[in-house]
Amino acid sequence: MSGDLVAFPTETVYGLGADACNSKAVAKIYEVKGRPADHPLIVHIASLDGLGDWAREIPEYAIELARGLWPGPMTLVLKRSELAGDFITGGQDTVGVRVPDHAVALSLLTAFEKVGGKGVAAPSANRFGHVSPTNAAAVVEELGQYLSENDIVLDGGACQVGVESTIIDCTGATPRILRPGAISELMINECTGLLCAEFRPQTTTGEDIRVSGSLENHYAPAAKVFLDHTPLPGQGFIADAKLQTPEGVIRLASPANDEEFARLLYSVLRAADAQGLTEVVVAQPNGTGIAVAIRDRLARAANGR
Ligand code: TXA
Ligand code: MG
Repeated sequence: MSGDLVAFPTETVYGLGADACNSKAVAKIYEVKGRPADHPLIVHIASLDGLGDWAREIPEYAIELARGLWPGPMTLVLKRSELAGDFITGGQDTVGVRVPDHAVALSLLTAFEKVGGKGVAAPSANRFGHVSPTNAAAVVEELGQYLSENDIVLDGGACQVGVESTIIDCTGATPRILRPGAISELMINECTGLLCAEFRPQTTTGEDIRVSGSLENHYAPAAKVFLDHTPLPGQGFIADAKLQTPEGVIRLASPANDEEFARLLYSVLRAADAQGLTEVVVAQPNGTGIAVAIRDRLARAANGR
């Protein structure tokens, strides 16, 4: 309410939050992130009860998704209410809303509602285009120098999911995935009894719906990322535990499954930068579920900063 910022953990990645009704506070988010002001922000709320404050004309399938999968790594894009100002939506007629599944985030959101708050606008707590932070130390490393004295960073440990929420456009007759995440197409179909509209990865910001994570180069570390190459001596290597490390290659992570892959990915890319590695090779997981989200982020990371 005071207009200060609070970085907080969620199950996906850390967010940089501000009172979603306070345009000045939200402007500070853009400043600290170095993010263009026409990119929309996700509004975080404590429970489904708050959804009607932010959205209108909510289709039945969106309610089913919210009932079935919130709190969870899922953002619903809906027609906005009057409460959702242009400074949240980037001037679009829609708003993204999510109930995160993390005890610290939920305590923060519930406490905020108790004092009359309606929601917390929060992008991932990284500089624009960089890798999202998945622990509090990474937030401080990314944003520490840009935060003010009264801003705070809540430490809730390492994020369980590790990649950003699935964003679902709920303005059409059927749900459409705008950004893949831990909530998969199959889960959405099962929850709603509908078939998701096909996911077409966007390569530009687009005119109608802007998903900033859909920029070609995003989620990128300083090191150059190569996908599915045979790693050379001196290069970093991230791959499933079953894959061996060629001689002289610096093995950075050996996840045992896709969930672990997602959980580790961003912190390992950060560690590669911290170690001064300039090239990292990643063997991408194939398959469905969260592997789709991992490949989506890696494709962008590989396009560089
Ligand atoms: O997991 C997450 O979603 C994390 C945590 C902190 O909740 N947040 C996150 O926020 O990833 P951010 O701002 O880094 O990415 C949110 C994405 C952006 O790409 C933005 O363009 C898109 O959501 N978005 C927000 N509102 C939208 C809308 N009305 N229509 C289309 N895309 C929207
Ligand atoms: Mg982000």
